Amino acid sequence: MAKRGIEALGALRGRRVLVRVDFNVPLRDGQVADDYRLRMALPTLRALREAGARTVLCSHLGRPKGSPQPELSLAPVAERLSALLGAEVRFCPETIGEVAEAAASALRDGEVLLVENLRFHPGEKKDDPDFAAALARLGELYVNDAFGVCHRAHASVSAVARLLPAACGGLIAREVAELTPLREGTAPRPFHVVLGGAKLADKIPVLESLVEKVDAVLVGGGMAYTFLRAMEKPVGASRVDEGTLEAALSILEKARERSRESGHRFVLPVDHAVGKSPDDPSGYALVREVPTGLMGLDVGPASLAEYTTELGAAATVFWNGPLGVFERPPYHLGTHYLASYLAARRGRTRTVVGGGDSAAACRSLGLADAMHWVSTGGGASLEFVQGKDLPGLAALPDA
Ligand code: 3PG
Repeated sequence: MAKRGIEALGALRGRRVLVRVDFNVPLRDGQVADDYRLRMALPTLRALREAGARTVLCSHLGRPKGSPQPELSLAPVAERLSALLGAEVRFCPETIGEVAEAAASALRDGEVLLVENLRFHPGEKKDDPDFAAALARLGELYVNDAFGVCHRAHASVSAVARLLPAACGGLIAREVAELTPLREGTAPRPFHVVLGGAKLADKIPVLESLVEKVDAVLVGGGMAYTFLRAMEKPVGASRVDEGTLEAALSILEKARERSRESGHRFVLPVDHAVGKSPDDPSGYALVREVPTGLMGLDVGPASLAEYTTELGAAATVFWNGPLGVFERPPYHLGTHYLASYLAARRGRTRTVVGGGDSAAACRSLGLADAMHWVSTGGGASLEFVQGKDLPGLAALPDA
């Protein structure tokens, strides 16, 4: 599924290039709190600047409901990006229209402009052709380098790609190259997946797909309690996705079948850090079975020992989702231990971290560089790995 790269767009000097990036980053006190997605966009931006292109960047931030929300302005992103790029990134407080078009036209060769949040306009999420046409007026050429939003059929990744000569940016190309072997089950074996996170409902399709392809599935996080309940184990007051109990049973059955056929292993936690609630660490205890009234909030040490025994044999690991409520100590310990373990296995195990919370945990520990690849996509990497066609990729011309 190779896509046409930027080089196929021809000489770029003096040409306005509209670039869709995913700068949906967390803000704290009006500042960028995690600039990973910005840093991952830099190679493409530097290449465009060096080629003399006039770059017009567009992105969404958060989930405004189609109208301006000042706290979701991209202005702080322009500031941080300027510092990272070592060159001014101009900011336009409009996304489309006369003001934005004038700002785009005023660019000189090698300069960069960021326009305001795409989702301040209702047309963005509706893949609206008029909104896409207004965006297309900002550039003569179009590059999509926003892997994190390729699973959305939104105007800036879908409709606009058909209005201008279009190409795929280097970040998307790298994401596709790293995630394709996981999607196709051709990654070096043994290939293990670690899935965590609060809600099983979000992970059912990826589990259904991966249980067929990998050698072991290790489950942690809140979603483990739905599996344990489905197996009639005591889960106390842990959150259980009642609506997905049947899906959990069918995944367990599939795992059993695969285990008979090929020795596949499906590993659930065997001990837990429990508490009264994630906000009340006073009830913290390590237990084998979750007692009535308490909830499981993290995996315990025996579970981690089992996981690491499994992972010690893996050539490839795909990890998506934290093992516990990692943002509330002491329930971060399982996730941090796993991140440190996988980082220490660099060179022996190729660990690919799906974006979102597990990626954020790796970065907060300074371990992202120790992983083989930390995806910039959360939902996008999951949908890609489970085998779905992403509308943002489908809209780009093939090589
Ligand atoms: C993400 O953070 O996963 C992407 O930027 C997509 O954001 P969305 O889930 O709000 O569409």
